[in-house]
Amino acid sequence: MSADGAAARLVRVTEVAPRDGLQNESTRVPTATKVEFIDRLAAAGFPEIEATSFVSAAWVPQLGDAADVMRAIGRPPGTTFSALVPNERGLDAALEARVDKIAVFAAATEGFSRANTNGSIDAVLARFASLIPRARAAGLPVRGYISCVIRCPIDGPVEPRAVRRVAERLLELGVDEIDLGDTIGAASSDDIERLYEGLAGVVAPGASTLHLHDTQGRAIACAERALAIGVRSFDASAGGLGGCPYAQGAPGNVATEALLGSIERAGFTTGIDRGAVERAGQWIRQELARLSSASV
Ligand code: HMG
Ligand code: MG
Repeated sequence: MSADGAAARLVRVTEVAPRDGLQNESTRVPTATKVEFIDRLAAAGFPEIEATSFVSAAWVPQLGDAADVMRAIGRPPGTTFSALVPNERGLDAALEARVDKIAVFAAATEGFSRANTNGSIDAVLARFASLIPRARAAGLPVRGYISCVIRCPIDGPVEPRAVRRVAERLLELGVDEIDLGDTIGAASSDDIERLYEGLAGVVAPGASTLHLHDTQGRAIACAERALAIGVRSFDASAGGLGGCPYAQGAPGNVATEALLGSIERAGFTTGIDRGAVERAGQWIRQELARLSSASV
């Protein structure tokens, strides 16, 4: 196959379990366990791992050790280590910790915006106005998440035009990538297609990342439809860990192991060692079970 042909068959998978997976764990996970988990995932060959969040520890206590995690992990050169940043204070800490990339996060609905980030959609976007240029001036690419692109746990169904408006604003503010979050795993594959139709001219499938949760068991079908319409970048979580503490009913991100299988079956490659991901997923599940039985 030509180099162009191989590139056309390449799908990017970002591993988000250390952030989206662990943020929802009620049992405190030791920093050393997080570090070993991330190191195992990096060894599987992910192009990007979302390692942690520089958010308020009052809001997400589990990730209060973000700086310690970043300091202790190995940093193999092929992997980008990114982290969530909600405000200037988070950016200061992320820069200090030498993250490779940041992710800001907004929502398509007012209810989720207030529940997750204590501000209206516009107020949260305004926080990014100086933060994004600062990150970019420091050489960091910026991912822009939009949560609740299909349905909100507070406000209900979401129209694609609400997502479109937030995407336009994030792009104006200078994000490098739009990441569309089906926060509570409500999407059907038809919803995914309708979402991208509604984003036409603003976010092309091939220029976006899709972040699926698997509440209804439909995430793999959604990913297959997304692949068919041109999406080439997905987030996933080893062991299917995940959820959002401010979105009841967001129990698990799409499992990386399953997503890699479906991408490979569709004839695409990722460069990621699926066996190594399976072992990392089994290992963290066992660690979490051990920690939770020790805490009762
Ligand atoms: P706030 O309460 O309005 O902020 O929260 P504040 O400025 O009033 O500060 C409150 C306290 O937090 C203060 O401490 C600040 O110093 C501290 P105190 O004076 O009370 O001791 N603080 C910070 N500490 C460390 N790092 C910071 C920081 N900022 C303030 N960066 C805020 C506003 C945005 C900070 C808060 O709402 C927050 O941290 N929210 C994050 C919630 C979160 O992480 N949710 C999960 C991630 S999003 C998600 O999972 C969805 C996604 O997966 C996609 C999808 O599935 O849809 C990405
Ligand atoms: Mg999520």
